[in-house]
Amino acid sequence: MSHKQLSFRSPGRVNLIGDHTDYTGGLVLPMAIDRYTTITGTRTKSTVVLSSQNEPELVEFQLPVDRPESVSPKWGRYVAGVAAEMQDAAFGFSGEVSCDIPIGAGLSSSAALELASALALGDKSNAVERAKLCQRAEHRAVGVPCGIMDQLTCSAGVRDHALLIDCHELSITPIKLPNDVKIVVQFIAQRELVASKYSERVKQCAQAEQIIGPLRLAPESALLEIADLNVRRRARHVVSENQRVRDFATMLQTGDIRSAGELMIESHNSLDHDFETSTPQMNSAVASAIAQPGVFGARMTGGGFGGCIVILADATANLDGWQVRAVNAASQID
Ligand code: GLA
Repeated sequence: MSHKQLSFRSPGRVNLIGDHTDYTGGLVLPMAIDRYTTITGTRTKSTVVLSSQNEPELVEFQLPVDRPESVSPKWGRYVAGVAAEMQDAAFGFSGEVSCDIPIGAGLSSSAALELASALALGDKSNAVERAKLCQRAEHRAVGVPCGIMDQLTCSAGVRDHALLIDCHELSITPIKLPNDVKIVVQFIAQRELVASKYSERVKQCAQAEQIIGPLRLAPESALLEIADLNVRRRARHVVSENQRVRDFATMLQTGDIRSAGELMIESHNSLDHDFETSTPQMNSAVASAIAQPGVFGARMTGGGFGGCIVILADATANLDGWQVRAVNAASQID
């Protein structure tokens, strides 16, 4: 085993449009952002020992891992989940984690930890396979039935581009971001009860699909066949959101940023009314952002129930929050 210091890092992500569509094989349009989780240290044979600048307790476990869900402290479950999914292919690792992605803010700090862990433990697969591995790790270790958007964005990010992802085909089309716009993220509140409310949404979408088939293929006219009005509204969000993602990608490509911004507002309203993942604070933050000069659009981003809003604005807009840039995928850095 070499004692060479190695460093691996993964970006977080912000989703520009297309939320709660990935787990029904729909469309999303996120980008990897210039906030990172980094793991630095040395490979070992069969022990994983990690400290974190953000967490008081050390993570320590032996390979192979059978029950990642019982690793303590909790942040270690993401790492252990990845190790468990890698099975015999995982190396041990001893080192330190640092992270400047705000945790629990809906910017995929957990996916970034999974991706950086997969690289540190020696995963050699391609971007799509690595994302699938990390998604399985999250399902297994923390029990959240998440889609693939977060892991795939962190594993496939492209500098200066958002990613149009078809979550059924797992195909990725990088879309160049216009030079003269800025993307600003505003943190609103720590997310709450996400796992249970998220799982409920996943179930409701599955119920809708039992009645009208895959939502990614369903026409709006089919929604009337769904008798349960809550389930119908969830499905209406997904069907309309997939179309907005398609249109948004075209608008970015043709430079129609004003219309793209309007779609973000429609997306927010749909998440608020039909999918019910927004909060009063997020609604008022979106309302005050879109009242600012130079703002094209704003919306809640990610799983919801707290977290962040994302704003699309011209370069002159004067906004609270932080400007993010689209960056490349998770990789070894030295
Ligand atoms: C979370 C999940 C993703 C996705 C978003 C909502 O971030 O991890 O898979 O479902 O919520 O778009």
